Amino acid sequence: MQATVQFERRANLALITVNNPPVNALSQPVRQGLLDAFRAAEEDARVDAVVLLCAGSTFIAGADIKEFGKPPQEPSLPELVNAIEACSKPSVAVLHGTALGGGLEVALGCHYRIARSDTRVGLPEVKLGLLPGAGGTQRLPRLAGVAKALEMIVSGAPIAAADACEYGIIDELCDGDLAAAGSAFAQRLLAAGRGVRRSGEQRIASVDVDVALLIEAKRAEVRKRSPGLFAPLRCVSAVEAATLLPLAEGLKRERELFQECLASPQRAALVHAFFAERQAGKVSGVPADTPVREIKCAAVIGGGTMGVGIALCFVNAGLPVKLLEVDAAALDRALQRARDIYAASVKRGSLTQAAMDQRLALLEGVTDYAALADVDVVVEAVFEDMGVKRQVFEQLDAVCKAGAILASNTSSLDLNAIAALTRRPADVVGLHFFSPANVMRLLEVVRGEQTSAEVLASAMALGKRLKKVAVVVGVCDGFVGNRMVFQYGRESEFLLEEGATAQQVDAALRDFGMAMGPLAMRDLSGLDIGMAIRKRQRETLPSEYRLPCLLDKLCAAGMLGQKTGKGFYLYPAGSRTPQPNPELAALLEAASQQQGIERRELSAAHIVERSIFALINEGAKILEEGIAQRASDIDSIYLNGYGFPAFRGGPMFYADQLGLDQVLARVREFHQRFGAWWQPAPLLEKLAAEGRTFNSWEPGQ
Ligand code: 3HC
Ligand code: NAI
Repeated sequence: MQATVQFERRANLALITVNNPPVNALSQPVRQGLLDAFRAAEEDARVDAVVLLCAGSTFIAGADIKEFGKPPQEPSLPELVNAIEACSKPSVAVLHGTALGGGLEVALGCHYRIARSDTRVGLPEVKLGLLPGAGGTQRLPRLAGVAKALEMIVSGAPIAAADACEYGIIDELCDGDLAAAGSAFAQRLLAAGRGVRRSGEQRIASVDVDVALLIEAKRAEVRKRSPGLFAPLRCVSAVEAATLLPLAEGLKRERELFQECLASPQRAALVHAFFAERQAGKVSGVPADTPVREIKCAAVIGGGTMGVGIALCFVNAGLPVKLLEVDAAALDRALQRARDIYAASVKRGSLTQAAMDQRLALLEGVTDYAALADVDVVVEAVFEDMGVKRQVFEQLDAVCKAGAILASNTSSLDLNAIAALTRRPADVVGLHFFSPANVMRLLEVVRGEQTSAEVLASAMALGKRLKKVAVVVGVCDGFVGNRMVFQYGRESEFLLEEGATAQQVDAALRDFGMAMGPLAMRDLSGLDIGMAIRKRQRETLPSEYRLPCLLDKLCAAGMLGQKTGKGFYLYPAGSRTPQPNPELAALLEAASQQQGIERRELSAAHIVERSIFALINEGAKILEEGIAQRASDIDSIYLNGYGFPAFRGGPMFYADQLGLDQVLARVREFHQRFGAWWQPAPLLEKLAAEGRTFNSWEPGQ
């Protein structure tokens, strides 16, 4: 028997314990160990019932995701679950933590299930581009009904143990020692003469509505909500099979659909995205045992768009925060904005009034730096102006206690220069939040030349506490995300000048999977921001870098995006939904003329290549310069901050999947046709020549 699964006989019970840290994933040794343990229980005449539980912080969290895409190893998970279900002695699974995916499927193979009340159960496979492939799509509808099973399997969202009890997925809630609770439950079963109860043998719970209609409605919903996604429709088909076929045939159909998902590029991309997010937490030069500073109280300087959002991030995580503004009037406006944001959530029903009051009680407005003497971390979010930043950091240096982390939310200024304004540059770090800061998951943690390992480790831990995906980046103009998005935005302006309409550009990229078209996104953040960068570039860029002129014309016409009701699109009467801007056509014509371009038809495929390959080429430069630690960090940034489709894994993974030689061929062609911006990144050339991928590359190779 394998060490990851322990078998112990206690009186007339077999206790089987999975012990495979950190999340008890069902790797091959665990599957084998479980199979052996259930066989041993079956064969031992002294055993009347089996209790299955897990050591550590959670029940089995699923199949071992690292094994996907590798040659299968016996025993397979479906085989194991079938064997567990077939056992002639009653079995009880005792759940705690998270029972997810294959973990829940193993539990569904057991004859009874009890769970600690804080457990969450679910079938999240769809988020990895899969469907539950070990009987989940056949057994869950039999226990919980078709509607609930469809909802859980298609959304992938876990539910609380109490709800799982209500839906018949769990028999009973328990507390205290897991082995004791499981043993007591098993003894009660035996005393009551209750034997095996196989969920696979149950009939589908009857429902009020016609099952076929239910399935078709779900299919229609999936087509509408997740166009282009491979797995969700197959999830529906697998559940449909449960309603039409006997168990054995349903399981066979489930397996076929699972294999189709497993082989899909979307599955590879989504698994990449899963590990990319976790890999981002590992920072070079910052070992896992680096001490982390305790953060009990925070401060935010500047209560504008970003400052208020950042303050709410702290408050939402239960951390008290002091928000500092220049004067009482500015502070009142900032605090009112915070109240308005929460009030909108209360109105929508996503927050209770009591929770709003509780959170606001953690937010204190101040105007005097003396109030910041005891805070553990400060995030500066004042105007993007070095003079203003200087005033702030000099004061922070004077009042903050030793060991306080001093962070800047600057989006374009030199963090090393900001750190040099203080006598403690090792304590200075960039915390680059994305707007709206209380909503967006991405946090770029900017490592200055002198930022200490301890401060970086603490910033990463803080990011996790704020429920952000924190990714370390180096200092350069725009860091990773914005430096790349600049190339993307510039290219969409060129496309407009060459002949595309705003709707064509945005539709092509939305169809590719971007959450928002690039031009609608620009309207949202305000075209004046891009104009300021453009002005700076005109003064500094070498002449071979041609720049579009469309933005100048829009800004000159007062079309700054949503804030003025007009930009690339029209936003009548405060609407946030882009509508065609009839005045744009004339500006496009004028811009094309000024650039000496004859307007032409551009295909959606061309629009996508120009935009996405611009991202990839810049990403390759960023990677080689060491501004990002690894390609998957760039992917995480784009997936969590820029609406890049998760089913494509991020720009660098997308390039890897296309093949870097293919990407390079197009970049070279664009270089010939469109000039200096398209100079191929040396790393792209090198890896393409070697037949390698960005995600397999490490610095120094
Ligand atoms: N397989 C392999 N490794 C896994 C894993 C899995 N299923 N789940 C988590 N891990 C690893 C993570 O990569 C991470 O490794 P690291 O420390 O080396 O970076 C470590 O476990 C801890 O994970 P988290 O940082 O995510 O820990 P949290 O405590 O924040 O979250 C969790 C725990 C909720 C279990 C979360 O890890 C999670 O959601 N895991 C994935 C669950 C899942 O998708 N299960 C379904 C798998 S597919 C399946 O079962 C197919 C079947 O139907 C046939
Ligand atoms: P903003 O103009 O909305 O707010 C700035 C606030 O700072 C104002 O309320 C102002 O009163 C206050 N302020 C100015 N000087 C101050 C001082 N000495 N002490 C205290 N408060 C002071 O600006 P926004 O958009 O919130 O940007 C703030 C910072 O965040 C900038 O560095 C910007 O580059 C960065 N950033 C902005 C993003 C965005 O989308 N707006 C995204 C990411 C970073």
